[in-house]
Amino acid sequence: MKSKNVTLAVFTGTGNTLLMAGVLADELKHAQLEVGIVSMDRPHGFKLPEDSALGLAVPLACFSTYPTAWRFIDSLPEGNGREAFFLATMGGMSGGMEGPIRRVVEGKGYKPIGAAIVKMPSNYANKTIPVEENRARIERAETQVKKFAALLRTGETNWGADGLASRFLARLAHGQKPWRMFHSLFPIAVDSDKCTGCGVCGELCPEKNILVSAGTAIIGKSCQSCQRCVGFCPARAISVPGKPAEQYRAMPLDRFKAMQGIE
Ligand SMILES: Cc1cc2nc3c(=O)[nH]c(=O)nc-3n(C[C@H](O)[C@H](O)[C@H](O)COP(=O)(O)O)c2cc1C
Repeated sequence: MKSKNVTLAVFTGTGNTLLMAGVLADELKHAQLEVGIVSMDRPHGFKLPEDSALGLAVPLACFSTYPTAWRFIDSLPEGNGREAFFLATMGGMSGGMEGPIRRVVEGKGYKPIGAAIVKMPSNYANKTIPVEENRARIERAETQVKKFAALLRTGETNWGADGLASRFLARLAHGQKPWRMFHSLFPIAVDSDKCTGCGVCGELCPEKNILVSAGTAIIGKSCQSCQRCVGFCPARAISVPGKPAEQYRAMPLDRFKAMQGIE
């Protein structure tokens, strides 16, 4: 990597991607680079300094990524030859989702210099995963991300191109309809007996899709199932019925808010 400044734009549901973006940022800072992290939750007014490389970090969702992330990526400013790299976290299978993102970034005039996809604890597991197993996954991912940072600096990384299947899935992931269908098949439910009406879910929801009415959270139709509300509900009142896994989040709520720039 030639740039000395890096702007790392992150979308995260339950904190896995944010955690790994933090590891990557720290590694690059140790190598004397200037690194800033911004949240993809707020795409408006995003400016990339003239001399800054762009880093994008997102979670896997249905072999692509979430609408909030796509909206940000699609509205990126022109690259004018600036370097760009990509980091994703996944539960197990990526299906080449980095390719369609490379296509957009390249189309905007960035120079794609590398991509890495690391396995983290699944935030959508069908069974409860032992804490030690998740911890071991996080440690392995940290090692991979540190290695990625080193390779980015020496220019030994690459970013794979897209195939037909990944392009099709990326197109699907752009639309509202598939996510609405996903949400109606696997709804996120609020247990009104447990809900305290604290409003944390509404404050955190990246799609501003949760309201608190009569002391209970109500999830609207624009849900992208990112699990942020499920992961961070202080009363554990939000869940996906039929998913027996315990509430998952990669970090405590206060650290999440601080890293996301939420007051
Ligand atoms: C709705 C949904 C869809 C997902 N789809 C995939 C997938 O296609 N492949 C995969 O490996 N992991 C998938 N996952 C798991 C997440 O990508 C993984 O746990 C990720 O690290 C979560 O990062 P985050 O905490 O930053 O949101 C999915 C999770 C959710 C909630």
